[in-house]
Amino acid sequence: VAIIVMTIIALVLGLHLVAAIGGGDMPVVVSMLNSYSGWAAAAAGFMLGNNMLIIAGALVGSSGAYLSYIMCKAMNRSFVSVILGGFGSDGGPAKGADTDYGDYTETSAAEVAQALKDASNVIITPGYGMAQAQAQFPVADLTAKLREAGVNVRFGIHPVAGRMPGHMNVLLAEAKVPYDVVLEMDEINDDFPDTDVVLVIGANDTVNPDATKPGSPIAGMPVLEVWKARQVVVFKRSMNPGYAGVQNPLFFNDNTDMLFGDAKASVEEIVRSL
Ligand code: TAP
Repeated sequence: VAIIVMTIIALVLGLHLVAAIGGGDMPVVVSMLNSYSGWAAAAAGFMLGNNMLIIAGALVGSSGAYLSYIMCKAMNRSFVSVILGGFGSDGGPAKGADTDYGDYTETSAAEVAQALKDASNVIITPGYGMAQAQAQFPVADLTAKLREAGVNVRFGIHPVAGRMPGHMNVLLAEAKVPYDVVLEMDEINDDFPDTDVVLVIGANDTVNPDATKPGSPIAGMPVLEVWKARQVVVFKRSMNPGYAGVQNPLFFNDNTDMLFGDAKASVEEIVRSL
């Protein structure tokens, strides 16, 4: 009986703990739960007098806690406020579908290729969509081609771009993009105003200017300030929102063009046009 009661209490507590948490805070919660499971295993180790379980549990617990801490720092959230929940929405009205953002403009691979040819400074900001499309290889080709032509191509990597820390770095390394052109968000964020073309390849939340507005589910998260560049091209398949489920006003800016389609196919077509 005790174990059934305990299980029910634990279920209710677990649901209560995470139900209020949403938007960009979700990855922190996932890694925090991972950490909890480690501590639970360590506790079980003490109960059973099993040293192996204590050590393994402590390792999982502390690495999960450390990962959560890094992610909180990357998203500018305090750890306590994430655990206590209720932030995501901040209790304000959900922003989204009913807001009129205006019109967006579409572009083609050939036009993007032309813009890249004319550019001297280009920044690529990849996100989850690049991983989803496995577009890192054509992206590496594109980078090599442009660099040969004397264009200064660099990458801006947001700390939570993709679905795990370091996701983009691993993919770009796999495709043999030189390390010295792959920069962290803080290293590159001041350079956007001097940039001719930014290619946003399958990223969304990490380039959302609404993150600077209070009340947004991703409010307070530092983002790549791509909209300050002369021209922004967004590679995605539709106008659907990203992970946090919020619309991105960047897509409706005058200096933003949408290049719809699978990121891999789009980048390959640009490489061909070049
Ligand atoms: P997201 O905001 O998730 O946006 C990804 C975009 O890629 C989507 O808008 C999607 O649009 C597009 N996409 C998907 N498949 C595609 C394809 N095959 N070709 C072209 N586009 C494609 O990505 P992000 O900017 O990288 O942000 C990451 C988000 O994940 C953040 O909210 C972050 O908090 C969260 N998160 C991060 C982590 C870590 S630690 N990195 C862990 C879990 C969650 P379409 O559907 O229209 O194509």
